[in-house]
Amino acid sequence: MTAAGAIGAIDRQALIEQAAAARQRAYAPYSRMTVGAALLCGDGRIFCGCNIENAAFAPSLCAERVAFAQAIAAGCREFRAIAVSGGPAGQPSGGAAEFAPCGVCRQMMAEFCADDFVILVGGAGSGEFTLAELLPHKFGPEQLG
Ligand code: THU
Repeated sequence: MTAAGAIGAIDRQALIEQAAAARQRAYAPYSRMTVGAALLCGDGRIFCGCNIENAAFAPSLCAERVAFAQAIAAGCREFRAIAVSGGPAGQPSGGAAEFAPCGVCRQMMAEFCADDFVILVGGAGSGEFTLAELLPHKFGPEQLG
């Protein structure tokens, strides 16, 4: 199945809107890059996250991992898609500011998501990838037998 066919248009639009709303709740006084994420679970629930920075820098959390933490703590273990919305504070997501999830977040996805997990980036969902595309040859739970 291609990424484009993996989730419906309604799910896609809901995820993009909720990621943008979550972005408004970002705590990013140091980088001033605000990010929101909306994660679609196997049971249809959506959990959101925003980036949360820290004066000590290292404890900072990306929006994607906050969304996964919320979902996992609520009992979800199956995931279908995530939308990520972000960029410099006060500027719209996408365009020149478009980015894909960082490597640490991709590894978090590798722990819980199948290769066909969908990743929407660019604010309006202009970029659409599968986890296999963003993290080929992943190291995951299957490597530990
Ligand atoms: N950030 C995210 O929340 N998600 C990403 O995929 C990339 C980066 C955050 C972390 C940090 O608070 C800020 O963006 C700048 O790196």
